[in-house]
Amino acid sequence: MTPDKTSAPSPAAGAAKTVFIKSYGCQMNVYDSQRMADALAPEGYVETAAVEEADLVILNTCHIREKAAEKIYSELGRVRLARDARRAEGRGMTIAVAGCVAQAEGEEILKRAPAVDLVVGPQTYHRLPQLVAAAQASRKVVDTEFPLEDKFGRLPAAPREKTRARGPAAFLTVQEGCDKFCTFCVVPYTRGAETSRPVEAILAEARRLAEAGVREITLLGQNVNAYHGEGPDGRSWPLGRLLARLAEVEGVERLRYTTSHPRDMDEALIAAHRDLPQLMPYLHLPVQSGSDRILEAMNRRHDAAQYHRLVERVRAARPDIAFSSDFIVGFPGETEADFAATLRLIEDVGYAGAYSFKYSPRPGTPGATLEGQVPEPVMAERLARLQAVTEGQQKAFNRESVGRTMDVLLERRGKKPGQVTGRSPWLQAVQVEADEALIGTVVPVTIVATGTWSLYGEMPGAGEKEAVA
Ligand code: SAH
Ligand code: SF4
Ligand code: F3S
Repeated sequence: MTPDKTSAPSPAAGAAKTVFIKSYGCQMNVYDSQRMADALAPEGYVETAAVEEADLVILNTCHIREKAAEKIYSELGRVRLARDARRAEGRGMTIAVAGCVAQAEGEEILKRAPAVDLVVGPQTYHRLPQLVAAAQASRKVVDTEFPLEDKFGRLPAAPREKTRARGPAAFLTVQEGCDKFCTFCVVPYTRGAETSRPVEAILAEARRLAEAGVREITLLGQNVNAYHGEGPDGRSWPLGRLLARLAEVEGVERLRYTTSHPRDMDEALIAAHRDLPQLMPYLHLPVQSGSDRILEAMNRRHDAAQYHRLVERVRAARPDIAFSSDFIVGFPGETEADFAATLRLIEDVGYAGAYSFKYSPRPGTPGATLEGQVPEPVMAERLARLQAVTEGQQKAFNRESVGRTMDVLLERRGKKPGQVTGRSPWLQAVQVEADEALIGTVVPVTIVATGTWSLYGEMPGAGEKEAVA
């Protein structure tokens, strides 16, 4: 019935089918892609990294900026060529578009890219096996519903070996959707209203992860600190309380969460930074702009001074904490003075990392129709100036690490033999000369040098051992 089964040289019935999944956009898509792979595994699908080998291709897409959304269509062009080549050999390929472009564009995708068989929005991944089967029965399928049932509750968990293979640092989505409606942003439309998973479900998943060797869990949500899931006591728990409970899970040595909105940093969460040694001293706290006028037009619902005070409160709770942020340059109406206010805020706060973007008008958002759209060359020039400052800060932050000894979670083999790649508490990538057997453990590492993207470190005592041997 399925195209792959009708073909002559294809695998015998019951043999493994292959799925190629590619993620774009945020970490929530990375997590969702894993869950999609897990949902398809009971159907016999094994993941492949080679698109031409795939019976099923899923592009898990991002709609946040125009460039991100348009990229999908050029990728679909390449996938279609791979499909045609397979067809010429008598093999089939089912092409699915998932994620935020699927949600935002729905049927339109089938018009622009007729090779696509299935369009599936982020809220119905638990129906994926049935949707794929329907698409393979040579129907075009579009599912962009927001069903009432909890998709994560209905998605199967990964087997232990698969979790182990994914490494000791894992994502865990605890919250989805957004009710903030910043005037530039598509997320409230593509991911829907804010919902939180129940505490027990998150704890069960965290325990499963830890039992399979996961040592660091990053809690994910488009607005993760707006988390308000139902606790075992029937009450709504804030993120700070959830983190405290997760810190008690055996084997969980490190916790992080992302992405936070400044408005949702409550006392319990700030206290968690003071009280939980497992909570890593690094916080992504997007501010977007340093100009009160622009913050207001963006509907961020705080001003620059409130953001500063918040940063100070978190620093008082956890003095070694470092911050990163997102910035948008060229929001409609942004003047040189507004932009200067953003640069000032960056200088005042001092960031260890930053993501910055030119404003991209998105269909259906209030920002897209505002007057005073900023010309592209002005945005390009402001972005370059901003990045010069944030890159300088990041380099300075990394340079200050040299000579210090810090805990590093060793995550995987490095590029060079004898090298293992890990992460510092401040999310810096660290290349360490270490025994591969130590992968999956947190070890003290002395930083000896910095490169463009990485720190280089040695395990204290490693040199002496060599000298003895
Ligand atoms: N929930 C997060 C942001 C998620 S989107 C928050 O509230 O901070 C990730 C980042 O993409 C945003 O922080 C913003 O900097 C950027 N972004 C979102 N929409 C954009 C747009 N229309 N143009 C340019 N950048 C945008
Ligand atoms: Fe988008 Fe604003 Fe929601 Fe973040 S808080 S996802 S920027 S609408
Ligand atoms: Fe992109 Fe959707 Fe994430 S628009 S940033 S993939 S929530």
